[in-house]
Amino acid sequence: MDERRRRFEERYKAGNMPWDIGRPDFNLKEVLQAYNISPGRALDIGCGTGDNAIFLAEKGFDTTGTEIVSMALDAACRKAEERAVRCHFILHDIMQGPVKGAPFDFVFDRGCFHSFDTLDERRRFAKAIADHLSEGGYWLSLVGNADEKRQGPGPPRRSAREIVEAVEPFFEILLLKAGRFDSNMEPPPRNWVMLARRRQKT
Ligand SMILES: C[S@@+](CC[C@H](N)C(=O)[O-])C[C@H]1O[C@@H](n2cnc3c(N)ncnc32)[C@H](O)[C@@H]1O
Repeated sequence: MDERRRRFEERYKAGNMPWDIGRPDFNLKEVLQAYNISPGRALDIGCGTGDNAIFLAEKGFDTTGTEIVSMALDAACRKAEERAVRCHFILHDIMQGPVKGAPFDFVFDRGCFHSFDTLDERRRFAKAIADHLSEGGYWLSLVGNADEKRQGPGPPRRSAREIVEAVEPFFEILLLKAGRFDSNMEPPPRNWVMLARRRQKT
């Protein structure tokens, strides 16, 4: 896990974060509206420099953002302070144990789930999210799309099957739609917009 943190830390230090677009992703706004997801306790895992977490807080969600890179988290705290928004930011690795404030009603991740390379890791990540959600709580994930053909750099690409295999044991998948990330890159990278609801514990 230290290796993962180092990898991301280097990207932040080098300013090599094409995902950091300086605004909340429109996909988040669209899904909240389309599925009528009302404010509750929200968790943004791998929140980066905080634009989506801050957006959720501004929408009335009691929001926690977590990160493994302290530099990103510091930037998120500064942004929230500048905007006078109350948002909890915690240095925390979701794979290592529970986040303070659980259970949450809504979990969001943009580019965190897709950064895990093996099915085992992705399943553990999905299970960790399910464990942080209230009964019937939602998880919205924005995931790089394996149907994107490209040469250069860009987000990790996952197939629909890879997503379903990891998520379905713990969640009812409500939406799995091919789309595009909100991005400053041209063309914007393709993504999957995945909305899932936690299965009832039996
Ligand atoms: C592609 S970036 C996206 C950042 C942010 N969600 C955004 O959209 O700007 C993925 C982020 O997940 C963080 N991350 C990776 N693994 C994590 C973990 N296990 N727990 C919390 N954050 C993690 C990384 O440090 C990185 O900032």
